[in-house]
Amino acid sequence: MTVAAPHPAASGVVTVPALEVRDLVVRYGSGRKARNAPPAVDGVSFDIAPGETLGLVGESGSGKSTIGKALLGLQKPSAGTVRVHGQDITGMSLKQRSRQVADLRVVFQDPYSSLNPSRTIGQTLVEPLRLMGIGAAEALRRARAGVESVGLPGDAVDRYPGQFSGGQRQRIAIARALVCEPKVVVLDEPVSALDLSTQAQVLNLLADLRDQRGLSFLFIAHDLGVVRFLSQRAVVLYRGQVMETGPVEAVTQAPRHPYTVALTSAAPVPRPAEQAARRAAREALGMGTAGSAQASATGCPFVPRCPLSTDVCAEQRPPLRLVGDTPTACHHAERVPAL
Ligand SMILES: Nc1ncnc2c1ncn2[C@@H]1O[C@H](COP(=O)(O)OP(=O)(O)OP(=O)(O)O)[C@@H](O)[C@H]1O
Ligand code: SF4
Ligand SMILES: [Mg+2]
Repeated sequence: MTVAAPHPAASGVVTVPALEVRDLVVRYGSGRKARNAPPAVDGVSFDIAPGETLGLVGESGSGKSTIGKALLGLQKPSAGTVRVHGQDITGMSLKQRSRQVADLRVVFQDPYSSLNPSRTIGQTLVEPLRLMGIGAAEALRRARAGVESVGLPGDAVDRYPGQFSGGQRQRIAIARALVCEPKVVVLDEPVSALDLSTQAQVLNLLADLRDQRGLSFLFIAHDLGVVRFLSQRAVVLYRGQVMETGPVEAVTQAPRHPYTVALTSAAPVPRPAEQAARRAAREALGMGTAGSAQASATGCPFVPRCPLSTDVCAEQRPPLRLVGDTPTACHHAERVPAL
């Protein structure tokens, strides 16, 4: 099933999603071995409405960054489509995108490697604008306004990345992503390399910029607390497949999929009693841990770790189906105990 339908506006008019991903498959490598290996992304679909933030969560290796790279044209999809405001951009080269797809930009996790140390901040910010055909003086004016919009002085454009802290560099990376006035931004773990207080500042900045500009975010993170802060909806990914999706409160507070239960009970929460209850729920389910367990090629990828698995789980891949209000890919979701 499709994870989210187009969003009817208050007037009843159906609005085009800002980002539309359908049946995305990404395989790395070539040759028979690669073809026989499970894809890194295996049939993922979701929409993001204008102004909405969708959190994409899952353990390391679940395929989150691969989805981001496929959207941005950094990794060729093996199948599926990506549309930005209805425009199919799936097969576009990076060169075509730099001229035509100013609507989609990215902020990466590492503020140290994502900025070229030998170029001034101004040079870095001006480059995408010049590629779009904007004149040098206007591009520099926009670059200055861009760094000011993320809380840095305008003269930061004359300095080099090495003169800034990690949090300041991540602000600059955000300014670079926003300088072309995109509508959709992929944020791939944008705060996980920062210390806690800097994380909070950068998250608040992202929320403010989103609300001021009506931006849509695909917000990739391990940390469910961070996802809850920024996102309206969440998609839970495991071995390249969507396990569960829905409003972020439902997914994080009342998960319907055994894997989401494992994720939520592993995520630290500030209230010790709640944390203890979650740990107890996880232990009651007898959940395995992340590891090298081989997933079934035909059935549910969570079989090797799932205490609820039965024969049907190994034989048939569970489709996403509504469990309560939440699309969930589990044959036995009704048996998952409440957190
Ligand atoms: N360039 C690559 N070549 C081959 N395999 C890759 C490549 N990049 C990622 N993979 C594999 O694809 C799968 C998904 O990786 P991906 O980086 O998308 O996961 P992730 O969810 O972003 O993980 P993390 O939370 O650690 O960033 C993993 O099995 C990974 O080993
Ligand atoms: S389909 Fe089966 S193995 Fe997969 S999560 Fe549900 S109960 Fe567990
Ligand atoms: Mg990643």
